[in-house]
Amino acid sequence: MQWTEDMSVGVPMIDNRHKELINRLNGLRTAIREQVCRYIIDDMMAFLEEYVDVYFCEEEQCMKYYGYENSASHKEQHENFATELHFLKEELRNIRTLGLKGSYELSIETVQVVVDWIADHVAAMTKILAIF
Ligand SMILES: [Fe+2]
Repeated sequence: MQWTEDMSVGVPMIDNRHKELINRLNGLRTAIREQVCRYIIDDMMAFLEEYVDVYFCEEEQCMKYYGYENSASHKEQHENFATELHFLKEELRNIRTLGLKGSYELSIETVQVVVDWIADHVAAMTKILAIF
């Protein structure tokens, strides 16, 4: 997946985060292909955790600043993603603490969740900020 100018929301802080998310996604896809995803899935999960904890908060403040009227439904989507991430993290924790196999399946699942997120949320957001 490539970040393109038409994905720009016109706010550098948000654009940079989206670029970083896509880079991380591509990195995980490459690692799956090269069968080394077990070495980077922990790092990817830590990145997604920070993405949810820090970036969502920044973005919600940004929407408030611009007076975006649908911020409540946007925030709800953030909460749904945070819930999905919670289950992925739980899965990773089980793999690591119980010594289970499954980081390949988990990596595939994580890619799917992030791809859907970019398609449904990041793309929708482009339209949102295009209003301003
Ligand atoms: Fe968002």
